[in-house]
Amino acid sequence: MTIESVSGEGIDTRHRPVDYGRVFTQAIDRLHAEGRYRVFIDILRNKGMFPNARCFAGHNGPKPITVWCSNDYLAMGQHPKVIAAMEEALHDVGAGSGGTRNIGGNTHYHIDLEAELAELHGKDAALLFTSGYVSNEATLATLAKVLPGCVIFSDELNHASMIAGIRNSGCEKHVFRHNDLQHLEELLAAADPAAPKLIAFESVYSMDGDVAPLHAICDLADKYNALTYLDEVHAVGMYGAHGGGISERDEAADRITIIEGTLGKAFGVMGGYIAADRMIVDVIRSYAPGFIFTTSLSPVLVAGVLASVRHLKASSVERDAQQAAAARLKALFTNAGLPVLPTTTHIVPLMVGDPVKAKKISDILLAEYGVYVQPINYPTVPRGTERLRFTPGPAHDEAMMRELTDALVEIWGRLELRQAA
Ligand SMILES: Cc1ncc(COP(=O)(O)O)c(C=O)c1O
Repeated sequence: MTIESVSGEGIDTRHRPVDYGRVFTQAIDRLHAEGRYRVFIDILRNKGMFPNARCFAGHNGPKPITVWCSNDYLAMGQHPKVIAAMEEALHDVGAGSGGTRNIGGNTHYHIDLEAELAELHGKDAALLFTSGYVSNEATLATLAKVLPGCVIFSDELNHASMIAGIRNSGCEKHVFRHNDLQHLEELLAAADPAAPKLIAFESVYSMDGDVAPLHAICDLADKYNALTYLDEVHAVGMYGAHGGGISERDEAADRITIIEGTLGKAFGVMGGYIAADRMIVDVIRSYAPGFIFTTSLSPVLVAGVLASVRHLKASSVERDAQQAAAARLKALFTNAGLPVLPTTTHIVPLMVGDPVKAKKISDILLAEYGVYVQPINYPTVPRGTERLRFTPGPAHDEAMMRELTDALVEIWGRLELRQAA
C-alpha cells in the first residue's frame, strides 16, 4: 500500500524515500517503552580474583564489584592452568589460526581438543565451532537438510540458536510443551512413521534451572525411531564424574545421537562443539556452512579449553563447590522470604515479574552495593517472568552470599516487592 492510498491526497508517493532513521528509532523506542532496552555494563574481571571485577560505567574511575551472573560457572576462565596454557600457546604459535579448518586453520590443538571432547562424551568424534550458538545453528540446519523429509520435534524452551537452526533447515517442525513427554509422544505418533525424525532438547534449561528427563525422551526416540539432539551447554563441565554433563550423570550419553556443548561457560574460554558418531560428524564437517566458511578458533583459545577440559575431567572440586554454593544461596534466599524459584541445579532465579522493576533492582545493586546481576527480560524469558538470575560458583563465599541476601532484603522492602508465597 502506498502512502497515497492512506492519505488520499492524490500524490504519487511510491518513490518517496524510506525514512530509515525513523524506522530504526521507532524500533529502539519500543524497547524503551517496554522497559527492556539492554544496557551493557562496562567491566574488567581481575585475573585470579573472580568474582571480583572493576566496573567503569557511571562512576568516576573503576569501582570494585562482585559478579553474580557470570556463566564462567566454575571460574575456569581464571584458572592458572588455563591461563598458563594460553600463554604458552600464544608464545609458541602466535595469536590466530590463520584460516578455515580446510584452508590452513586446522591446528594440532584443534585435533587434540576434538579427541578430548569425543572421549568426554564417549563418542567416536567431535567437531569444534566458533561458539555454541554456531554449533547448534549449523548442525541442526545441516542435519535436517541432509535427511530428506526430516521432521524435527523441538522443546518449546529450546535456545534461540536451536530454533534458528531448525528454521534454517526448512524442515517440518513440531514444538512440544516443555519437558512434556505425553505431548511429545502425541506429536511423534501423529507423524509419518516413515519420515526421518529428530528430537531436539536441552539438558539443563538455563533460565528455570530445570532438567530434561533424558532416558524417558530416549525411550520415545527408540519407540518412534527418532534421532536425538541434546544441548548440554549449561551442564558440560558441571555434571557427571568427568564433567560430561547430565548425559554422563544419568548414564544416558550412549543413547543420545548428538551431544552439543559450549566451551565458553563452565570451560571458561570460548567456542562450541558437537560429539557424535564418526559418520554424523563427517557429514556436518563436510556440509555445514557455519563450520566450513569461517576462520577456525584461535589456537590460543583452544589450548586454554584443552587445559580446562582435562582439568575438569580429573577434578570434581569445582563442581562440588559450585553445587554447595548454589544450595547455600537458595537456602539464604528462601529463609529471607525472597521469591527464589526452586531448582535442582546450580542456577538460582529470583522472580520479579516486571521488566522495569528487574532493571531497577539491578541498578540499585550495582550503584549502592557493588553487586552485578543482569536483569533477564523478554525474549530471553516469557513476559511476566522477568527475573534476576544468580550463578553462584566455587569462588562466592559465605560473606558475599550474606551481603547479597541482606542487600536484596533491603531493596525488596524499599521497592515494596512481592515476597515468596
Ligand atoms: C542453551 C544454550 N545453547 C547454546 C548457547 C550458545 O552458546 P555460546 O554462548 O557458546 O554461543 C547458549 C548461550 O548462552 C545457551 O544458553
